[in-house]
Order: sequence, then structure tokens, then C-alpha cells
Amino acid sequence: MGPKILVARRVFPEIVARLQQHFEVDHNEGDEVLGARLAERLQGCAGVFITGSERIDQALLDACPQLKAVCAMTVGFNNVDVAACTARGVRVSNAPDVLTETTADFGFALMMAAARRLAESEHYLRRGEWTRWSIDMFAGSDIHGATLGILGMGRIGQAIARRGHLGFGMPVIYHNRSRLAPEVEASLGARWVDKDSLLCEADHLVLVLPYSPEAHHIIGARELSLMKPSATLTNIARGGIVDDAALAEALAKKTIAAAGLDVYEGEPKLNPALLEVPNIVLTPHIASASIPTRRAMANLAVDNLIAAFTGGRMPTLLNP
Ligand code: DGY
Repeated sequence: MGPKILVARRVFPEIVARLQQHFEVDHNEGDEVLGARLAERLQGCAGVFITGSERIDQALLDACPQLKAVCAMTVGFNNVDVAACTARGVRVSNAPDVLTETTADFGFALMMAAARRLAESEHYLRRGEWTRWSIDMFAGSDIHGATLGILGMGRIGQAIARRGHLGFGMPVIYHNRSRLAPEVEASLGARWVDKDSLLCEADHLVLVLPYSPEAHHIIGARELSLMKPSATLTNIARGGIVDDAALAEALAKKTIAAAGLDVYEGEPKLNPALLEVPNIVLTPHIASASIPTRRAMANLAVDNLIAAFTGGRMPTLLNP
């Protein structure tokens, strides 16, 4: 029997079976978010398989000195203090690449749903309010040919740009700390612009940047006021990047036309003001949630755990 590991949330049975070939596995099949009980449950564990719900910080590391590896099945890792882990020799991995296309599909779907008022019109129909056709009933804005703005041009941003450029004939503008190579820009039909120009020029703005303290409320009241009144905003990145209260106000005042959100400040709780505005599509952090992709994400975390304890090279190690 190998070292003991904790799988912090419920995962697919074949993932547990794979882990059991190498480890003594404690599986949180009940699926409750362990929160403050995580440290207690981790006693005696050398490794942990986490999702985005577990916080791995200095206090947890102090309480679990035997921990050697933290393997996340998510690409985002703002819930893990990588520097603190590195200082203690705890290896950390995330799960990039395997979710890129699925997440880009969802970002595009959410953007389209916001632009074409899918949720708003569906709610209207379900309420039994549809009695006749009218010329501007739920008329929204076009996707094809409109300017696609992307904030954060990593792998997922580029996959969204490709969809917009090749599939919908959208001129693509983006803002990112580092510019793409000219040939990559050309293949995506993408042009780098400064952040304020991105806000002013985009018809549909999609946020795909990782969360960091510098990115906190990077879209607030000032930024929303720069956007076109006909524009949409889609956030599939992380809660806290958008000031949700300012967004709700902008939507209520029609400073922008519509929004699509998959992530929220303080999720799974939502700012109640978001629930009051009709011109929004709200989903519960499911951008990577296709069955094959969730399997691939979990398997990548398993690959990392196995490598961490068999002397292999962890495929997606995050420590410098
Ligand atoms: C990720 O992998 O970071 C996605 O947000 C899913 O949680």
C-alpha cells in the first residue's frame, strides 16, 4: 500500500479506482465542502486531490506538516498559496490544457446567450407572457461580424478568439500583459489594444484572465462606463475580477446591454442585485463541465499525484 491521500470532493468511481492502485485513498464521497475540517481530514495524508473548493494556505500547511503534494483538477489555482507550498517543499499541480476547448465553447455560448437574450426570453415564455409576435421582441445584438474583445489572452482566450475569427467573422481585439507573437495574432485575426480601448471598442467583451490581487475588480464602475451601451460582458474567469455590485447597477441602468456570468464574488453565494436584473444569463461555474473534460481534468490530477510519489516528472507542476 502506498502513502495515504485524500480526495477532497466526490469524483468519478474510475478515478478513485485508479488512485487505489497506488495509494491508500480517503474519498470524501459525501461531497461536502470540508472547509475548516480539511486540516483534520488531512491528518496522516501525504497527498491531496483538490478542486476549486479547498483552500490550501499557510495555516493549513502548518496544521499538516506531513503533506507533500497538492494536486488540483482545476486550471485556476488562486485557492492555493503556491509560494507557501514551495517554501515547505510541497509540490503543487493544476490541470491546464485539457479543459481549454470545452471552456471556450461555454464562454462562446454564454456570450451568445447574453447577446441574443436567451435566458430573458425563455423566462418570459415560461411565465406564460408570450401572446403575440412583435418586431423588436427580445431583439438583441449580432455576434457575426461584431468586434470580439478578450481580456486575458492565454490558452482559453485564444480558443475563444479562434471561434470568433474563423467561425463568426469577428474582428478580434485583446488586452494581455504580454502580446502574442505576430504569427499567432495573424492566425487569430487578433489585434492587441490597451485596456481602455478594449473596453471602448468591443461589442462583446469576454474575461478570461486568471485571478490575482491585481486583477481584483479590474472591471468596475469606471470600466463599465467606458463600454458601449449595446455591448455585452461575459465572465468565465473568476469571481472578484468583476465588481458584481457595479455590474448589476450598469445592467439596471443599461450602461451596457447584457452580461453572461459563470463565476461570482463569494460564490456559491451571489450578490442579490444580480438576480434582480433581467438582462443577464447566470450559470453556476460550469464552463468546464462536460463529462469527458471533467474526466480528463481529474485524470490529469491523478497523473500528477502518481508522479509526485513515484519519482516521476509531474506533468503540470506549478512550483518554480
Ligand atoms: C478551473 O478549472 O479553474 C475552472 O474554473 C473549473 O473550476
